[in-house]
Amino acid sequence: MHFTLLPILTSGFLLFAASSARASGFASTCNDITLSGTTLSAECGNGHGESFQASINTNDCIANYGGTLTCAPNGGYSGSCNTCFIEPGTTNMLCDCENGSGGSPASLIDLNSCFTNTFGSLSC
Ligand SMILES: *[C@@H]1O[C@H](CO)[C@@H](O)[C@H](O)[C@H]1NC(C)=O
Repeated sequence: MHFTLLPILTSGFLLFAASSARASGFASTCNDITLSGTTLSAECGNGHGESFQASINTNDCIANYGGTLTCAPNGGYSGSCNTCFIEPGTTNMLCDCENGSGGSPASLIDLNSCFTNTFGSLSC
């Protein structure tokens, strides 16, 4: 009787391992990626043949550290970055970010490294 637990635990672990492996890399399962203000939107597959309009506030996942964009929870980069846009045909976001010494150099971050698609919804 107690042997029946093993397959259940094993499949639970495999599900966990599979979802961990999906961390970041949303672009391979999302289309129509756009940035409007700080809102990243995309049409994202749920892994079961359906797709959903998903969006997320990029401030939730990106920070400006001394003029360099970095993936970071609750980063709030938009308080010190301007003129952000996605480089056409890529997942790169470009901004002018204050570096703390009077300059605002251009900084680039690959959004694919900061955002994950989990069953059709976007997260950090
Ligand atoms: C900040 O940007 C200014 C102007 O681009 C530059 O002269 C300065 O060296 C930068 N400071 C740092 C710490 O990167």
